[in-house]
Amino acid sequence: MLRLAKIRLPNGYHRWHMLFIDKPSAAQALLDGAFEQLTLEHSTSDIFVDPSRRFIVKAPLRRNRWVDNLAKLAGLTPADKESRGAELLTSCGLKTPAVLARALPLNPSAKYRSLLYLEYLDGAISLSDYLRHHPAATDRQTLLDQTADELAMMMAQGVLFRDFHFGNLMRSAQGELYWIDTEVKHYPRAPEKAQERFLKNHALFKKRFFGHGGTEAEWPAFNNRVLQTSC
Ligand SMILES: Nc1ncnc2c1ncn2[C@@H]1O[C@H](COP(=O)(O)OP(=O)(O)OP(=O)(O)O)[C@@H](O)[C@H]1O
Ligand SMILES: [Mg+2]
Repeated sequence: MLRLAKIRLPNGYHRWHMLFIDKPSAAQALLDGAFEQLTLEHSTSDIFVDPSRRFIVKAPLRRNRWVDNLAKLAGLTPADKESRGAELLTSCGLKTPAVLARALPLNPSAKYRSLLYLEYLDGAISLSDYLRHHPAATDRQTLLDQTADELAMMMAQGVLFRDFHFGNLMRSAQGELYWIDTEVKHYPRAPEKAQERFLKNHALFKKRFFGHGGTEAEWPAFNNRVLQTSC
């Protein structure tokens, strides 16, 4: 479902958008929603939630106008890329918040490159916050094993999660893992490339493991599990 819509956000942002609605049942609520802005320490996008905590809007700021406009012409706004990635991960059997809608500002100089409306995971926290603040949690090992297995499973299917770190996973109140920030690269004809690319950036992978709450004792098992099972 496609329509033109004037979208308002609580920071004064107020613009016409092309709105692609993925979940028609949520459309009116999304447009009526009096969103509020979340203050998040590490987020590079502006994030808004509706007061009933059902939807979240992810709004990445415009950076370089030329690059952003070229990407937009190719139909590749951040919202589109993330939503395609979420679809691919879901088809691999992994959990992601449901994509409700994507909005593209008509004015190319708008503050945001695109808006992505997602199901809000109420009560969830990022896996990095969980690992940092719960050093003795009994499900640490389970969560790390599951993350490693899912990462490996993606790679075995030629899917590389571009921005892997524990901040891009959420642990729900029930202890389930959801992947967010789902821009992925897919190599359907040469799946081994996903792991090749991953190994090229292995130093960054390791650095991020420790930077996002993993411990020295947990690293070897995590690393081996990702590498062994994806081969
Ligand atoms: N579906 C969701 N439900 C609840 N909270 C969410 C959801 N998606 C994102 N968040 C919150 O917003 C934060 C940032 O989200 P996300 O990683 O998608 O944005 P980002 O890192 O700013 O993205 P990018 O690097 O693409 O700009 C998360 O750590 C989490 O606190
Ligand atoms: Mg992120």
